[in-house]
Amino acid sequence: MKVKKAIIPAPGLGTRFLPATKAMPKEMLPIVDKPTIQYIVEEAVESGIEDIIIVTGKGKRAIEDHFDNSFELEQNLMEKGKYELLNEVQKSSKLVDIHYIRQKEPRGLGHAIWCARKFIGDEPFAVLLGDDIVSADTPCLKQLINQYERYNATILGVQAVPDKDVYRYGIVEGKRIGERFYTVNSLIEKPNREEAPSNLAILGRYILSPKIFGILGLQEPGAGGEIQLTDAIATLNEYEAVYAYDFEGTRYDVGEKMGFIKTTLEFALKHKDLRSQLLDYFSTVLEKELINRP
Ligand code: UTP
Repeated sequence: MKVKKAIIPAPGLGTRFLPATKAMPKEMLPIVDKPTIQYIVEEAVESGIEDIIIVTGKGKRAIEDHFDNSFELEQNLMEKGKYELLNEVQKSSKLVDIHYIRQKEPRGLGHAIWCARKFIGDEPFAVLLGDDIVSADTPCLKQLINQYERYNATILGVQAVPDKDVYRYGIVEGKRIGERFYTVNSLIEKPNREEAPSNLAILGRYILSPKIFGILGLQEPGAGGEIQLTDAIATLNEYEAVYAYDFEGTRYDVGEKMGFIKTTLEFALKHKDLRSQLLDYFSTVLEKELINRP
């Protein structure tokens, strides 16, 4: 069966960006001039996804407004002849069919996915987390869908992370059976360095079998007292094969401050109008910092 639907969970509180996220969703923080969630929606569309459900929560209305028409703004840009900007503004509302559902309490990622079960029904589906933006020749999700079409089974997008960072991720232990491809033996959410079975981390991209919903419905809270998607996938693995694919591309971590700053700088360096100004600025700053360094 083809993968046509995707869930983008976005109900998280974004505590790592407080106070910026007190009244604004973290998914709306811009990388240069585009909210992070738009990069994610664009990746889904470029991967062939036809319907997206965004799981929102309290204080997330700005996300819905962003992907909606904005009549007054569009009228204003048209009257002023700002057609390029008008095009950009209209683009976000024309991308794809987006549906919304609210997670009423922050009970964890697994619970947020479970909230979308009626929208997905009995078909395989994709999950994309907004904390990871991937820059790749073939969109990251498309790479996973290509693998799904060969294996017809749950596939997790993974990459190796430094050992010191394993505690931040769901970690898989697998057996390599092909180029970039693993069968998953076990999974553990946010292990400490000693208990981590490997450094292959699940990085915010999944193709999941709909059987996961039945498991999530019975799932007890795990790490951090939250209903963890990784725990449910571990249970699923007892009944069905689960694979991991080490996707190609550069992963940008926009869910924490330093990652967000690095991503902003790297994307600005790729921007044709900003690159040379930014390089000039860097050299001035570096010169000043080096002179002042004791
Ligand atoms: P994070 O651990 O990054 O939490 O969630 P957060 O609230 O988004 O951000 P911080 O850590 O407070 O700064 C990882 C993913 O799980 C989703 C988030 O939306 C994010 O995509 N999530 C988290 C849920 O869907 N529901 C929850 O109850 C919690």
